[in-house]
Amino acid sequence: MEQVGGVWGIVVAAGRGDRFGAPKQFCELAGIRVVDHALLSLARACADVVVVLPPGVEWEGAPVSAVVAGGDTRSDSVRAGLDAVPEAAGVVVVHDAARPLATRALFDAVIEAVQRGADAAIPGLPVTDTVKRIDGAQVVQTVDRADLVTVQTPQAFRASVLRRVHAAGGDATDDAALVEASGGTVVVVPGEPRNIKITDPTDLLIAAALLDA
Ligand code: CTP
Ligand code: MG
Repeated sequence: MEQVGGVWGIVVAAGRGDRFGAPKQFCELAGIRVVDHALLSLARACADVVVVLPPGVEWEGAPVSAVVAGGDTRSDSVRAGLDAVPEAAGVVVVHDAARPLATRALFDAVIEAVQRGADAAIPGLPVTDTVKRIDGAQVVQTVDRADLVTVQTPQAFRASVLRRVHAAGGDATDDAALVEASGGTVVVVPGEPRNIKITDPTDLLIAAALLDA
């Protein structure tokens, strides 16, 4: 692909944190907020970064290229961030504010995969638990986990592809799903076991322990 426009990052930090019980991205972790950890690693890999915040919340953190208000769903928030990315951008990296532990190497891996020609690149981890399909409390089937992965952010995209799939206004728990649905090529790079998403309060304790170790 053409190498014009550089790499832009979007950190989505506009969630309510219903399962956590508070907007977890603003909780403190090892002296700075969870969102600051996510932003600092994203900013090392991207020339410009957009922060997407809950409506009415002001940005008090490291300097960024743009700050915008998010929407009701994660996809709405990504679209708000994308609107602040200039047309000339070549690659867009979307990262959850709730993932404070992704390393520079992981950002570089997804960006490089897109620069080599994929429409999208996402980190995936093998499934280690046994997985079963259920109907209420009844087990229907044990699913073969050999060809399953669990997926993380950061996710990198050809900017033009991400814009096209979001133009339709769809909703999905990750952006790669919209690219898959449109027939684009999505490649998986090895994810990082430490790159957990803060979902429940226990996850914040785990992240603190991982940073301490
Ligand atoms: N997010 C967002 N805008 C939304 C919803 C989510 O920017 N409308 C962001 C969150 O801030 C988080 C990431 O998307 O960084 C992943 O979402 P999730 O872990 O589900 O966070 P929340 O939606 O805040 O949590 P919950 O689903 O428990 O309410
Ligand atoms: Mg959510």
